[in-house]
Amino acid sequence: MSDHLTVVDHPLVQHKLTLMRRCETSTSEFRQLLREISLLLAYEVTRDLPLTSRQIETPMCAMDAPVLEGKKLALVSILRAGNGLLDGILELIPSARVGFVGLYRDEETLEPVQYYNKLPSQIGDRACIVVDPMLATGNSSAAAIDLVKQAGGRDIRFLCLLAAPEGVARMREAHPDVPIVTASLDDRLNEKGYIVPGLGDAGDRMFGTK
Ligand code: URA
Repeated sequence: MSDHLTVVDHPLVQHKLTLMRRCETSTSEFRQLLREISLLLAYEVTRDLPLTSRQIETPMCAMDAPVLEGKKLALVSILRAGNGLLDGILELIPSARVGFVGLYRDEETLEPVQYYNKLPSQIGDRACIVVDPMLATGNSSAAAIDLVKQAGGRDIRFLCLLAAPEGVARMREAHPDVPIVTASLDDRLNEKGYIVPGLGDAGDRMFGTK
């Protein structure tokens, strides 16, 4: 991937995102929509994965057929909201290896604090997709990608549902080599670090917590 930011403007993505933003959308509807939208976003974030060819036999003849090159993909979920995106992507790429990074946001400083880090082996040989629905300040995402790079990750993409301009700028500064795929670039962050217009707290909406 070369462009730093890709906004997926597919009509189905935009329609589902609108439903997710609405206050009236229930937890179960939100979860289902996130699952559906993550399949469509996964399609976009994997668009440029390299292919190689393998000889196969069809019932008609032998042919050289395209298959994904290299080791299985690595997906890295930033806990806990990343897991909502992860489930859908795993439906599309069931053989992917999965890692988790636990970061919570200090509500005063808005800085990320790490409490968990478990990444797939040989991450340097895998294309890696880091997932978190909300790219807000960008601090957690940049910190998670720092950890992936420290473990050897080189071919990294970041997938989110919504991005704020502040988060995109932070990522561009910290990780200009990591392309971002999102369903929307929203207007701004509010004083508490929430994306506006946004959809509220993604983790709370997905898990029914407050
Ligand atoms: N995290 C969320 O869940 N929502 C936001 O708007 C920002 C960060």
